[in-house]
Amino acid sequence: MKIFVDTANVDDIRTACSWGIVDGVTTNPSLVAREQRSFEEVVREICEICPGPVSAEVVSLEAEGMIQEARKVSSWAPNVAVKIPMIREGIKAISVLSQEGIKTNCTLCFSANQALLAAKVGATFISPFIGRLDDIGHDGMQLVGEIVQIYENYDFATEVIVASVRHPQHVLDAALIGADICTIPFAVLEEMFNHTLTDVGVERFLADWEKAGLKL
Ligand code: E4P
Repeated sequence: MKIFVDTANVDDIRTACSWGIVDGVTTNPSLVAREQRSFEEVVREICEICPGPVSAEVVSLEAEGMIQEARKVSSWAPNVAVKIPMIREGIKAISVLSQEGIKTNCTLCFSANQALLAAKVGATFISPFIGRLDDIGHDGMQLVGEIVQIYENYDFATEVIVASVRHPQHVLDAALIGADICTIPFAVLEEMFNHTLTDVGVERFLADWEKAGLKL
């Protein structure tokens, strides 16, 4: 499973990339707003740090406006994937953009039928938001399973990005279900490293090594 980091913070992206585990980045308007920097500057910098796909979202709600914004944002770097919301105008825009060869990430997906429509118009990625579904008492991971199954049934090329991840269990379930990608907030990525037995083990090995006076 590919790992994307879900943040617009360049320091966190740099750190995560230095671990060698990052295949791409996703941002959204809320994450970019948190950084208090210009959108273009942030996107360009992230695209330089990470060679994989970097999702940057349009804000227009009309297909024509989305298309114009997508052309602009995708001209900033070859690895930009333009995020387009899962609404009628968004699907119309993705249909045009896929024919132009512009990478798209259909965002705010909450149902398998929405994912089917996005794949039909050639979206590069689909982003089911599982945490937000869990928040309202639904089963976000069930949706991911349905999308993976539908895309397999019909051999759609659209890749499934498990988004709105809240904890490491979401990542594990995404991997078990066979999602292509999981986009992970930096704090959750850090939690994935942790296990008390690892810490205790490292400490004990070093203590034994030092007690025996060994050298490397
Ligand atoms: C994904 O692309 C989105 O940026 C993100 O996962 C949204 O997560 P949230 O529900 O925590 O805002």
